[in-house]
Amino acid sequence: MIAEKQLTPHIGAEIQGLDLNTISLEDIAPALVDALARHHVIFLRDQFIDLEQQKSLTQVFGPLSRLDYVEPLDDEPFVIRVLKEADEGGGTFGGNWHTDFSFVTEPPAGSVLSAIEVPPVGGDTLWISQAAAWDALPDDLKKILQGRDAIHVGKPYGQKWAPSKETRSGDSMKMVRGDPVADQEQRHPAVLKHPVTGRHMLFLNPTYVSRLDGMSEEESTPILDQIQTHTTQPTFCCRFHWTAGTVAIWDNMATQHFAVNDYFGHRRLMYRTTFAGPSPRELAPPTNHHAIDV
Ligand code: SIN
Repeated sequence: MIAEKQLTPHIGAEIQGLDLNTISLEDIAPALVDALARHHVIFLRDQFIDLEQQKSLTQVFGPLSRLDYVEPLDDEPFVIRVLKEADEGGGTFGGNWHTDFSFVTEPPAGSVLSAIEVPPVGGDTLWISQAAAWDALPDDLKKILQGRDAIHVGKPYGQKWAPSKETRSGDSMKMVRGDPVADQEQRHPAVLKHPVTGRHMLFLNPTYVSRLDGMSEEESTPILDQIQTHTTQPTFCCRFHWTAGTVAIWDNMATQHFAVNDYFGHRRLMYRTTFAGPSPRELAPPTNHHAIDV
């Protein structure tokens, strides 16, 4: 029998009473899909799954998809290693609030992250609910965003906004750097409608969004900063402490996440797979400039 233990009222739940090594995925797939839609991120502790099991689990939520900007494992084109060595300085992969690869035409619908080796303390990950943030957004900001696109750019991977050596994540990740294609602007709706729950949710994040459509960067920045401060308030957030063998699954369209870089001296290794889903354009709510609660 599967039980859900919510981590906070707005986001995150541990799924308990489930062993991926013995259970049939077919039997539990509808419950997992439903739990992910309601909680945005779900956690399964003590699973210790291998890569074949991880890929099968990922396909419960959508077709496996590849990431263009991080080199996959040699013989596993759908798996990336999220690794920081004990002596590796600089930033960490995902160490800022972001929605994965929101600057591409079809960003991942979600990801599965399986913890192999974790620090004894630190190395937590935080997620925030873009749906809870939308619900509580002041009406004047909702009005600015309704029916509007935001412009996304692959800043860490391009040339124009390339991060410094001190802040970028280390060589263990084998990321593409300095690619002029990543500097090209990609438009996505600033607000999406969830395909399962029908909830509205912000689709903005500070790592990749450079400005709002119809505004300059100077005009957009104070608005985007205000929205991001609202979005990342602790009420809309859950913080997860990893143990080896844990698997996390998140809805990329409904969340931002942040990997905390506080474990220098310890190795952290995870395997990540990604699933595809509807594009942000397909998730745009019907345009209605008059109604706030569309
Ligand atoms: C990421 O996918 O952004 C990394 C998350 C993590 O390492 O906790």
